[in-house]
Amino acid sequence: MRFPPTFLDEIRDRVPISSVIGQRVAWDRKKTNASRGDYWACCPFHGEKSPSFHCEDKKGRYHCFGCSVSGDHFKFLTELDGMSFPEAVEKIAEMAGVPMPVRDEREEQREKERASLTDVMEMATTFFQERLQGPEGAKARAYLRDRGLTPATQQSFRLGFAPDSRNALKEHLAAKGVPKADIEACGLVRHGDDIPVSYDWFRDRIMFPIPDSRGKIIAFGGRALAPDALAKYMNSPDTELFHKGNVLYNFARARKTLAKGGTVIAVEGYMDVIALAQAGFENAVAPLGTALTENQLELLWRMAPEPMLCFDGDQAGLKAAWRAADMALPAVQAGRSVRFALLPEGKDPDDLVKAEGPDAFRAVLAEARPLADLLWMRETAGGVFDTPERRAGLTKTLRELTSRIRDESQRYHYQQWMRERELNFFSAQREVRQSRQDWKPGQGKTSAPGGQFAKGGGVGARAAITESLGRSAMVKRGGEMMSVREATIIVALVNHPALIDENFAHVEFLDLANTDLKRLHAAILDAMAHDMANDRGAVISTIERAGCIDIWGRAVMLIKRARQWPALETAALDDARDAFNQALHLQRSARTLHKELKQAEAALASDPTDENYRHLVEIQAQFRDVQATEALIEGFGVSSGKAGRV
Ligand code: UTP
Ligand code: MN
Repeated sequence: MRFPPTFLDEIRDRVPISSVIGQRVAWDRKKTNASRGDYWACCPFHGEKSPSFHCEDKKGRYHCFGCSVSGDHFKFLTELDGMSFPEAVEKIAEMAGVPMPVRDEREEQREKERASLTDVMEMATTFFQERLQGPEGAKARAYLRDRGLTPATQQSFRLGFAPDSRNALKEHLAAKGVPKADIEACGLVRHGDDIPVSYDWFRDRIMFPIPDSRGKIIAFGGRALAPDALAKYMNSPDTELFHKGNVLYNFARARKTLAKGGTVIAVEGYMDVIALAQAGFENAVAPLGTALTENQLELLWRMAPEPMLCFDGDQAGLKAAWRAADMALPAVQAGRSVRFALLPEGKDPDDLVKAEGPDAFRAVLAEARPLADLLWMRETAGGVFDTPERRAGLTKTLRELTSRIRDESQRYHYQQWMRERELNFFSAQREVRQSRQDWKPGQGKTSAPGGQFAKGGGVGARAAITESLGRSAMVKRGGEMMSVREATIIVALVNHPALIDENFAHVEFLDLANTDLKRLHAAILDAMAHDMANDRGAVISTIERAGCIDIWGRAVMLIKRARQWPALETAALDDARDAFNQALHLQRSARTLHKELKQAEAALASDPTDENYRHLVEIQAQFRDVQATEALIEGFGVSSGKAGRV
């Protein structure tokens, strides 16, 4: 009997190959690393004294470096034990605790039909590939080249071109003897009662073949070449072979590379997957024109315990992230969670690797946040919780959220975690308000309540330092690392020279920790001295002349990555002013505290009294609080509708 491939996959996935092979060989203790699912033994297929037979649970395969036998669970049993294939399947099914499928003639018939449909899809794939290389593919080839895809990449993803014709594919397949019904069942033509003559589904489009988990083509995505096409992307309709919501683009390849380690990355589009693969990230997959479905999340979890969900840096991307978070939450378990990576404003992974290279994408991945963090950010971003009612409101929201987790132990820990975070957050907010009241700015306006990220108005300070950002090597150069807070001050000043004028005194006595930013500050002072500080272009030229244009580039990049859009050139002056004032305020309290801390340390060193010790501890606590506050209120959790493009 024929077994459904899904059944074979399922039992193979459930049984570690080492437990099949382990019944027949003794593992070599030295070379084996059981915790990584990595086993070595003397080869049972050829006699040997030192172990060159290897199997890996992650891959579900064995290989002998001596005699080059290799295979999976079934092959091991059929070749070594001489079992028939059905016997081997029965044995693995039993080990997996999965009942054998009952013989189903109809299902077998359907399986046969599916097999002939995949043959047709294969023929269509080749047809599109050949058209891409032919004369009518010139435009499409130029397009792909302009988008930076090498011929090798195009080949390996089997990209093609559907000519601008109503029947090119249809006639090609008919000439090869493919029945009309099969062409229709593959979703390759539009047909139906209201369509007198069926015609090709894809016309004048770049074709992306979509393989299933075994690498067989089951559908296509097509990207319009004409900018005025009705839909930029179009997919095959759902067919016997293809159910949109159950498939991830590039699943098979990604799963293969995962055997080498790492986690799977889910991105939004085909082009993203391909551009990432070309940039060396072969572990990316994408849903097919819909938001991530529960089934697709299941697929991701079959590949890795903590898939990385990566969303475009626009409002739609952020919305998709929230949606995915809500979907994943109820299902979290030990070894089943997700992380979120958000791209810089207005970028998708394809844009990013193309403009800034693989390291920029790696940096985005390094910034990815756990699910709990993301949900916390969403519920608290910019809010003020300064009354019992507001706190109770937040507690209730978080409680409702965590109560949706089905796994009891996870639910308990999420609730604990949220509770602890709330308590820290409340006390940190008190600190900020306190220091804000103490600070009487001489010039400029204080940050207006209800800035664009604020839910409830008030604190909403965006200028902040991400702890992980601070740690990343990219920003760590010269003295203290470049903090988002200091970069905000400088970048906002340069991009909006009106702020220089408004804050003359503050700018002059700006106290920065980072030596690179100090150089930019010096350039600004230089421009001020030459009366050129009222013009952005002139300030930038001064920076250039000072040999600091690279530093400027890094500062702007940090701002973008931290999503401090208000400091950018494109922001409205009012928003820039808010961000600047908030950053300046935090800067002043942090620097003052930093100095007090140094003094207290020195005092204790020279005069180790109880009193000096208590003083130091107190300052340390305040310092930690300010840092905690900054980490809490950073502008990741953009939540209001206005926070889109600036
Ligand atoms: P995007 O609009 O982000 O496009 O759609 P993209 O992937 O960056 O494509 P390029 O770079 O412009 O070529 C993301 C995904 O949403 C689906 C496709 O799967 C696409 O890859 N989509 C988009 C559609 O199904 N239809 C559309 O009209 C647009
Ligand atoms: Mn794109």
